[in-house]
Amino acid sequence: MADLSVNIGELRMKNPVMTASGTFGYGEEFTDFIDIARIGGILVKGTTLHKREGNAYPRMAETPSGMLNAVGLQNKGVNYFVEHIYPRIKDIQTNMIVNVSGSAVEDYVKTAEIINELDKIPAIELNISCPNVKQGGMAFGVSTKGACEVVKAVRSAYKKTLIVKLSPNVTDVTEIARAAEDSGADSVSLINTLLGMAVDAERRRPILSTVTGGLSGPAVKPIALRMVWQVANAVKIPVIGLGGIMDWKDAVEFMLAGASAIQIGTANFIDPAVCIKVEDGINNYLDRHGFKSVSDIIGALEV
Ligand SMILES: Cc1cc2nc3c(=O)[nH]c(=O)nc-3n(C[C@H](O)[C@H](O)[C@H](O)COP(=O)(O)O)c2cc1C
Repeated sequence: MADLSVNIGELRMKNPVMTASGTFGYGEEFTDFIDIARIGGILVKGTTLHKREGNAYPRMAETPSGMLNAVGLQNKGVNYFVEHIYPRIKDIQTNMIVNVSGSAVEDYVKTAEIINELDKIPAIELNISCPNVKQGGMAFGVSTKGACEVVKAVRSAYKKTLIVKLSPNVTDVTEIARAAEDSGADSVSLINTLLGMAVDAERRRPILSTVTGGLSGPAVKPIALRMVWQVANAVKIPVIGLGGIMDWKDAVEFMLAGASAIQIGTANFIDPAVCIKVEDGINNYLDRHGFKSVSDIIGALEV
């Protein structure tokens, strides 16, 4: 059996399979279906300094080969997380990583400072790419200035592994990735959702209450793969790839394109056991091709 372990900054993972934020709750919801300790890392729901109600319904729409969401970072705020959720999830035997969102630099910093104190949270993922909140969110992730500002500020407040999640809604994703790296990120993850829209012709109305929303699922995979490949060739820090990964083959493709680890999002809604199946599939692939370690396939694409 091949060695599946990978490192992201100081983060040691037993395998490269992670869940994507907002698609796997706090992990505990899945314990009746699968052994979640087998997953390399669980990205919990987007967490903000203060409670957020999220956007009005409808905030989901199915599209061919994908889905649109406009959840809008609904959560009870970081203090609620610390008091009520952390005690329940802290002993899960995998890396529990908090996805931190905000609409102002100070909010990101305060949230990161609070999470820095939690022993069993080894990393945060800074979401500078959410298309579903009116202020902030994606605004930081679409300019190098915005990305530098928020990543630098959080870097000085947060001492553990800092992953920065990038937006695909930009002309040149490598510029933003480099800005994150230069500002102290230990890793970048990409992609968040692509800005999209759905229309109900009969009612002559948009389907989502917010008109636009974030597109995810198989429809975005070729774009995500291209961006991961571009970023992996532009930075030295490890890249975490996601966007439309539905099975082990998709995961291997992202790793060949340069991802050191991968995240699975929308596919969890279809099959709660998908992460375990992807891990098994990567293992079989490595054995079949005679690779001793999963590191051997990272960036091994012959172009
Ligand atoms: C319902 C839903 C909620 C999401 N919430 C978050 C979030 O809170 N923070 C975040 O960084 N990304 C969030 N995302 C984006 C996913 O983590 C992921 O980047 C995106 O869906 C692409 O991956 P996929 O095609 O595998 O789903 C959300 C996606 C969906 C579908």
